[in-house]
Amino acid sequence: MDVATLGVGILGCGPVTQAIHLPTLARFRDTFHVARVMDVDAEVARAVADRAGSAWTTSADEVIADEDVQVVVVCSPNQFHAEQVIAACRAGKRAVLCEKPLAVTREEARRIAEASAETGVPVVVGAMHTFDPGWIAAVENWGDLVDRIHTIRYSIVLTPNTRSEDFATEIHSRPTRTAPELSAAERAAGEMFGNIMGLAIHDLPLVRRLCPDFRDVELLSAQTLSPGYLLDLRIGDRSVQVYGHHTTSWRPEWRVEAIADDVSLVVDFPPPYVHAGSGTATFRARGESRIFGPYDTNGYEEEWRYLSKLVTGAADPLDTQVLVDDVVFAIGIAESATAVVRAAAEKAEVTA
Ligand SMILES: NC(=O)c1ccc[n+]([C@@H]2O[C@H](COP(=O)([O-])OP(=O)(O)OC[C@H]3O[C@@H](n4cnc5c(N)ncnc54)[C@H](O)[C@@H]3O)[C@@H](O)[C@H]2O)c1
Repeated sequence: MDVATLGVGILGCGPVTQAIHLPTLARFRDTFHVARVMDVDAEVARAVADRAGSAWTTSADEVIADEDVQVVVVCSPNQFHAEQVIAACRAGKRAVLCEKPLAVTREEARRIAEASAETGVPVVVGAMHTFDPGWIAAVENWGDLVDRIHTIRYSIVLTPNTRSEDFATEIHSRPTRTAPELSAAERAAGEMFGNIMGLAIHDLPLVRRLCPDFRDVELLSAQTLSPGYLLDLRIGDRSVQVYGHHTTSWRPEWRVEAIADDVSLVVDFPPPYVHAGSGTATFRARGESRIFGPYDTNGYEEEWRYLSKLVTGAADPLDTQVLVDDVVFAIGIAESATAVVRAAAEKAEVTA
């Protein structure tokens, strides 16, 4: 083990650890080594430890208590994020990287903010597009665009995740999922909440940045697609469309558009798991285009570059309140959309 570098402890060894974090961490050997990985499935933990050259365990507490672990990465299923982030903060780690979403309830988000503030342990959320050089270039060059936007379109069309994961690495194993017995309304509600907090959440921080009145949100309509979602929102004085669709027959597209009368911004991102450069930002005004990117590094790499600066004191911590506001914004939208599709499914059940 390389003790000159900082030890990373990883909680959850699923496809995201295997296809995203291990390949990215391999580019930061000067700063980090993987000290210990954990999964509730011992077989997966052992196999991933073999690849990473680390110790392994099935106990999250053991990773968090390990003095060789200075940075904790939370890659477990969403419902465990808050409890694991808080435990890592309370253990006084140098930093915590939590995969999106940071939390799934407002109360969890509040407790994370409290733990991070009380312990001084910085928290980073693996919302990779917030670190993407294409998005950063958009922010640095948009001037007063945000004051003049009237329409935002946020659209994700992707092939199933398993396909992208397999492009990125050889996945050791995937957890088997058994669908619980649910009524049609419970299923519709669960799918919508999962879609918003699992997929749409990625760029809702970007949408929030484009909406100064982000606390004034009205959901105009919400539909479940098969599989996917389509939401129409009014946020302040902006019309915002949020669309997501998983399909094998369509070219992957991941795009955030901000439209004003005289200028538009389109940011195109590569599909997830892909380690092939950044997104591209294009401003169009009066028939002229200004294009920024694609750059060589992607959001995953920049996330870890930021972490390496953070733990060596070369970068300031992010404001945890901003991360909490991001997740609370997403939870509000997810809850409203969930209520709409649940009510529609209940009505359909009654009339059937
Ligand atoms: N940034 C991205 O591009 C991106 C993409 C997909 C998913 N994600 C996020 O990454 C996280 C992991 O995603 P995944 O696709 O690898 O998930 P997954 O559910 O497929 O795998 C998670 C792993 O965690 C293990 N696990 C179960 N309970 C656990 C616990 N209590 N503690 C630790 N591990 C536990 C499972 O055995 C499994 O191996 C999720 O939070 C997801 O939202 C991020």
